[in-house]
Amino acid sequence: EKGHYRHFMEKEIFEGPRAIMDTLEGRIAPGHGRVMLSELTRLGPSPPEIVFVACGTSYHASLLGRQLIESLSDIPVRVEIASEFRYRPLRIRKGAWVVGVTQSGETADTLGALDHARREGYLTLAVTNVPGSSITREAEATLLTRAGPEIGVASTKAFVAQMTAVWLLALHLARRTGLREEEGSRRSLELLLRAPARLEGFLGAIDLAAIDRLAEKVASSRFVIFIGRGLDYPLAIEGALKLKEITYRPADGYPGGELKHGPIALIEPGVLVVAPLVDLDLAAKEWSNIREVEARGGTVVTIASPESSPVAPSYPLPPTDGWEGMFFATAVLQLLSYRTAVLMGNDVDQPRNLAKSVTVE
Ligand code: F6R
Repeated sequence: EKGHYRHFMEKEIFEGPRAIMDTLEGRIAPGHGRVMLSELTRLGPSPPEIVFVACGTSYHASLLGRQLIESLSDIPVRVEIASEFRYRPLRIRKGAWVVGVTQSGETADTLGALDHARREGYLTLAVTNVPGSSITREAEATLLTRAGPEIGVASTKAFVAQMTAVWLLALHLARRTGLREEEGSRRSLELLLRAPARLEGFLGAIDLAAIDRLAEKVASSRFVIFIGRGLDYPLAIEGALKLKEITYRPADGYPGGELKHGPIALIEPGVLVVAPLVDLDLAAKEWSNIREVEARGGTVVTIASPESSPVAPSYPLPPTDGWEGMFFATAVLQLLSYRTAVLMGNDVDQPRNLAKSVTVE
């Protein structure tokens, strides 16, 4: 039931902290401060390569997974759209893990991609939110995200749980491959453990009036471009997807550095650019992209912590020194789409033309 919330989507956004907490439960060795994913034991030692296959929001979580795994280990990671991957010859390393990320566990293309890999003798792992779903029968091993049932068609808390799962996977693999930066990994685990409480605190103090002011800007824009670099790139394209799904506003997401290779031609008054800035390493570069937009008359909405923002952002995030900023920015982006859709009077939980699980190709 929705409780005091107006829509399931709203309720599920506020369930993000619990989704992180439940996904962490029992997966960190008590006292050791080490991630233990016993689910992966049957896959054997860490692989020479990882290939994520997924669709939609789950594809965006996979892109984050690549970033996190590659920063904590030496394992090369690829991310593939399941519907493309499944019809291509497999040119991946022997012993690679093919990881299907799917909230429902029933997405036809992701199942097809995993089947394709399994037939060619690759080890397969399912990262899914639904115990007993089809993908858990297809894959060699399953890592469950524990967001609980998600009713809203637009994925919110399940995405948060997927971010948690790929972060855990990165920490698990870091331990197994020998750490490039042991210290970085320990710090990263501390941040992950603190994330549920920090996200809870952030959501508890969310400034809905400020989000509504931004939602009005979105609703009155002809086109919305989401940009981001590094960690912010998957957050940006996920922000654009969410906006399209429930507000039907024309929107797209690009890596910040790609703007000048084409999309900048679209910038003029009436076009809005939304920029999450949680990747501390690349924030300065993203700011230079933002300046380029402003110089051409575009309006920019920035979502940033003090560390990544030389000026007051449109929506401020709490101080951060690691990856947990992605949870804060995601909450703001989800709420921004949600409040825009409410403002427009749309059916938020049942957007037109969309189904919760896509069981046909
Ligand atoms: C976005 C959304 C879809 C799904 C996609 C994959 O809000 O819900 O893009 O993410 O259809 O679904 P799963 O994760 O069930 O494979």
